[in-house]
Amino acid sequence: MTVKTMEDLFVETLKDIYYAEKQILKALPSMVKKAGSKELKKALETHRQETEGQVDRLEQVFKLFDVAARGKKCEAIEGIIAEAKKHMEDIEDPEVLDAGMIGSAQAVEHYEITRYGTLIAWANQLGRDDAIELLKANLKEEKAADQLLSEIAETAVNQKAAA
Ligand SMILES: [Fe+2]
Ligand SMILES: [Fe+2]
Repeated sequence: MTVKTMEDLFVETLKDIYYAEKQILKALPSMVKKAGSKELKKALETHRQETEGQVDRLEQVFKLFDVAARGKKCEAIEGIIAEAKKHMEDIEDPEVLDAGMIGSAQAVEHYEITRYGTLIAWANQLGRDDAIELLKANLKEEKAADQLLSEIAETAVNQKAAA
C-alpha cells in the first residue's frame, strides 16, 4: 500500500503494532517458562493475557477504519525478540537470565509505548476519538507492565544477580 494520507500512515503503523503484538504473544510463553523468579513469571503471564486483549482491541481499531486486520512485518520487534531468545539460549545462571529477560521485555514495552503514543497522536489529528480510547487502553497496560518490570528488576533480580 502506498502511503498518501495521514490515514494511510495511521493504518500502516497500526499494522506494524498488530504484527508486533502477535509476535510478542508467541514469544511470551517460553519466557514465562524460563523465568526463574516467581514475580517475573507471574508478571509475564499476566501480560501475556493482557496482550490477547490488546490484539482484540487492535482488531476493533481496524474495523473502525474499515480495513482488514493484517500485520506488516516489523524488523524492530523481531530484533528485540531475537535478543530475548538469545538470552534464553546463552545464559545459564537463572538470576542473570531473569535480569536479561527483564531487559528485553522492557525493550518490548518501550517499543509498544512509542508506537501507541504515536498512533494516539495521529488518531487525535484525524479526529478519531473512537480509536483513541482503544489505543489508550493498550498504552496504559504497556506502561503498567514496564513499571512492574522495573520494580521486579530493582528489588529481587538485580540484587541477587550481582551477589
Ligand atoms: Fe502489547
Ligand atoms: Fe507489552
